[in-house]
Amino acid sequence: MAATVIDGKAFAARVRGQVATHVAALKADHGITPGLAVVLVGEDPASQVYVKSKGKMTLEVGMKSVEHKLDAGTAEADLLALIHQLNTDPEIHGILVQLPLPGHLDEDLVINSIDPAKDVDGFHISNVGLLGTGQDSMVPCTPLGCLMMLRDHHGSLSGMDAVVIGRSNIVGKPMAQLLLGDSCTVTIAHSRTKDLADVVRRADIVVAAVGRPQMVPGDWIKPGATVIDVGINRIDKPEGGTRLVGDVDYDSCAAVAGAITPVPGGVGPMTIACLLANTVTACCRANG
Ligand code: GUN
Repeated sequence: MAATVIDGKAFAARVRGQVATHVAALKADHGITPGLAVVLVGEDPASQVYVKSKGKMTLEVGMKSVEHKLDAGTAEADLLALIHQLNTDPEIHGILVQLPLPGHLDEDLVINSIDPAKDVDGFHISNVGLLGTGQDSMVPCTPLGCLMMLRDHHGSLSGMDAVVIGRSNIVGKPMAQLLLGDSCTVTIAHSRTKDLADVVRRADIVVAAVGRPQMVPGDWIKPGATVIDVGINRIDKPEGGTRLVGDVDYDSCAAVAGAITPVPGGVGPMTIACLLANTVTACCRANG
């Protein structure tokens, strides 16, 4: 039987609708407008696209959007000074520094200079620690979006075998923490994992976040498993031009899986929706 396609685009539109309702209530009842500041250093084309899209959607849900575009050669001290200014700005409730940063900037230092209460990416070491110990934290947007889709599809995830392929700080590790928090039995697989195919075949839930186009074939997927594809890779089409594909081979995986997220239109739209939701959460916490 063909897999259920998990429509992240439609789900994200619903989440953004809920965020917009919440924003309108904050304005009407308390005179507060949640504000999100996005900082982009340099001219990475993919980052420019993401930042533009974040700004547009922030405005669409009625929030304040501030963009700071800095030269690729910006000195670390100047970036830290900007973050300090945003940390102390009462109209800014969320701060996102788009990654990757140019090589001369210390990513950890920059991220950890953000006020953890405004760290809507959930990358600050305090938020990482809170998540790891099961306490309230800012949760990274991409794994949060994946978890929301999994909960929506399955209800309870308790007792399910989950394999996360990829061990990045942005997706793989927080995803594993979230699945553990929902009582899955979690394996984190990565480039050194032995017999990756066998590991993936045991999983009821597969989250692919490796950044390698179509790496997971359908014959690695347990029949009926749920496949969440975090990859966004651009590949050449045989007839010319390019197209976006995920980290799993969609057609062969969809033939075996019980449910699968498409690329595009799966995890991607949920990431921005969760960023907006995190900003509202940060605003509510800041205002008691
Ligand atoms: N670059 C790629 N994904 C992300 C993300 O979720 N947040 C930030 N800040 N940068 C990214």
